[in-house]
Amino acid sequence: MTSESKNRVLSGMRPTGRLHLGHYHGVLKNWVKLQHEYDCFFFVADWHALTTHYEDPQIIGDSVMEMVIDWLAVGVNPANARIFIQSEVPQHAELHLLLSMLTPLGWLERVPSYKDQQEKLRERDLATYGFLGYPLLQSADILMYKAGSVPVGEDQVAHVELTREVARRFNHLYGREPDFEEKADEAIRKMGKKNAKMYRKLRRQYQEKGDQEALDVGRVLLEGQGNLALRDRERLYGYLEGGGRIILPEPQALLTQAPRMPGLDGQKMSKSYGNTIALRDDPREIERKLRTMPTDPARVRRQDPGNPDLCPVFQLHEVYSDEARRQWVREGCVSAGIGCLDCKQPIIDSVLSELAPIRARAREFEEDQQLVRNILQDGGEAARDVADETMDEVKSAIGLKY
Ligand code: TRP
Ligand code: SF4
Repeated sequence: MTSESKNRVLSGMRPTGRLHLGHYHGVLKNWVKLQHEYDCFFFVADWHALTTHYEDPQIIGDSVMEMVIDWLAVGVNPANARIFIQSEVPQHAELHLLLSMLTPLGWLERVPSYKDQQEKLRERDLATYGFLGYPLLQSADILMYKAGSVPVGEDQVAHVELTREVARRFNHLYGREPDFEEKADEAIRKMGKKNAKMYRKLRRQYQEKGDQEALDVGRVLLEGQGNLALRDRERLYGYLEGGGRIILPEPQALLTQAPRMPGLDGQKMSKSYGNTIALRDDPREIERKLRTMPTDPARVRRQDPGNPDLCPVFQLHEVYSDEARRQWVREGCVSAGIGCLDCKQPIIDSVLSELAPIRARAREFEEDQQLVRNILQDGGEAARDVADETMDEVKSAIGLKY
């Protein structure tokens, strides 16, 4: 992993509708945190949305601005993170194409989401070239920015794993320059006597004894070599490990630790289940949704006792309430001491107060769409700058520079 990629995070989201509390708790809160810790790139994966929605793309066009407004409203901040639209960085398509040349078909056919999604979205014809390539397009997204970490949910880990394999194959094929050893040797000497000696020793320790710590220390040593040119640094990362030049570093999945966000019916909150609370739902609408959401079916009348473990409302208490309040619910429910509306009221209050500042901030962006466009413009420019650099390296490594 090269030094600039170590601290870089990249993640994308498909624009297929308005964002809801599931996105907020599952993804966006994490992005807001990460933007202070890493060099973050967050993008609208409109081409990915097209792989499944090519027959009804208007939802994509309608959702892009709205989704970005939702991101900004929850606190994703263009001062800390680059925000852009995938299709405005066409280099992603170019890298995808180049990677497709060296990606065995079997790798894509074996990605679990390929068959799963085809089964799940039966009403759509997903026996397409584009859909098969979905995870490879994602690899191109990630490798373009040499991201070290990719925050994803469980369902996307296989895509990051594929990205690692593709990167490894790319480096293996194109990182082996004919005069690699000499170039690596020259680069080592550029580090100065002391560091060069240290590097050689660590390399020997790793390669002869498999000493993992020596590898880690060696990487840290290289990170500190700010005066080495990028290509030399890539050579030395590769040389340290015993391979060629590492042009595309392998990313790590950064698994998001988020509580499961239940929907209004107790299933996972998801647009396809129709059980969501959208971030910009009207407060009266939110209150209505919560007041009418189902409870333990055994509590038909107020005096019937219930069981919180069979009640979707209690799952919301798991997200929004502390231990004391959950205790209050448990006792009140099993003894019929509280009614279901009493039980729901703190949830209603929590959700409304959570969403009030988000709604207010969203309104500012709704009223100034030009501001949103400018943010996307700037983010796109920053992304294209990085993308141009990567494409330059990728093309020279393959030999497509004439
Ligand atoms: N496939 C991701 C999802 O459905 C979206 C995505 C596209 C993505 N490209 C990415 C996520 C790159 C992380 C990195 O959620
Ligand atoms: Fe559910 Fe609360 Fe009603 Fe019990 S009191 S059934 S936990 S809503």
